[in-house]
Amino acid sequence: MPSHLIRVSEVFSGLVPEILGLLGAEKVKKLGSEFFVFQTESPDLITDSPAARFIRWHIPVEHSWPCNPEKMEGFIEKAAQSLYYKFESRHPQTVLVGRLDPGSQKPYYKSLASNLRGRTLQVFELPERAPKTAEEQNSSKQTLFCLIGKEGLFAGMASPKAANGLHPGGSKFIAQNAEDTVSRAGAKIAEGLHYLSMFRPALPAGSHWLELGASPGGMTSELLKRGYEVTAIDRAPLDPRLANHRHLTFIKDDTAAFIPPRGARYDAILCDLNGPPLQAIAHLTRLTDFLKPRALAVFTLKTTGAETLMEIDALEKQVLAHAEKAGLSLIARTHLTYNRQEFTVFFEKSAD
Ligand SMILES: C[S@@+](CC[C@H](N)C(=O)[O-])C[C@H]1O[C@@H](n2cnc3c(N)ncnc32)[C@H](O)[C@@H]1O
Repeated sequence: MPSHLIRVSEVFSGLVPEILGLLGAEKVKKLGSEFFVFQTESPDLITDSPAARFIRWHIPVEHSWPCNPEKMEGFIEKAAQSLYYKFESRHPQTVLVGRLDPGSQKPYYKSLASNLRGRTLQVFELPERAPKTAEEQNSSKQTLFCLIGKEGLFAGMASPKAANGLHPGGSKFIAQNAEDTVSRAGAKIAEGLHYLSMFRPALPAGSHWLELGASPGGMTSELLKRGYEVTAIDRAPLDPRLANHRHLTFIKDDTAAFIPPRGARYDAILCDLNGPPLQAIAHLTRLTDFLKPRALAVFTLKTTGAETLMEIDALEKQVLAHAEKAGLSLIARTHLTYNRQEFTVFFEKSAD
């Protein structure tokens, strides 16, 4: 039976037994704080079952070496050679190595991951044009993803899109500097836009965003940093650091009262409203007529009111159906580092 490795964010740790049960997982082993390796006869369920939305990232495990790298002499050389013999003939576009415990303060595995990647790339002798960074990957081409930790080495080939992230383990971790961060939501949209680059190119500077539920303004400040024009709405005020920004129009009001100015057409809409998710999606879809064709919609789906896996599943289905009815098609949805009991969902407005 083939082995698979999945990542489930710690906020959903209470749902892990149910997730693994839905996947028909056997011989489960927990790795680090958020990874699980197991065997299943139905790997399709990883992407096609109510468990799928809780799986942040996943690969087939085609090579594993359970060992303690710290105690293994010549670990890097032996690991690089075994990866070469196993995968060279399948021509991965690049090799990326991450940690099973990405939050760990211990520098040992961070440098081990970097050194193992360096040595493996040398052994593979990839062509000059091969992607040097995770961001340069073709998101539809196969990459050799490896994860290492005190439990050993786990590796498999997948495209970033199939794995659901450009980096081993998922999306890029965006560090926050408490002093100049308006709110933690800033890192959430930064990570979300980075993730979205797997599916479509970034909107050019000057694009106009409509933002619902902007206060205190962490996301607003990230959009402004990228050179976007922002019309932001919230009942609560924005952080004074954003006052008088020349590319920002702030409307302190209820979203329900907002009527776009005559002729307004936005390139993107962002909705991070709190409150019942069906109400939040209704606020967004009321405004889809004011979006340009193929405009982007980014929606934080807060799972307020849903406790169990099946309740969250049903809620998400209702939200997606509502969006689809309003002409928004789903691009992707994921759970990001800064998401709590919520998901970030990306839609695109239809072209006509
Ligand atoms: C999670 S916070 C938004 C955080 C924000 N995106 C940031 O980057 O800092 C949710 C916001 O939604 C606002 N909100 C909820 N319902 C609203 C409504 N009907 N009209 C206007 N604002 C609303 C709240 O005032 C609150 O500031």
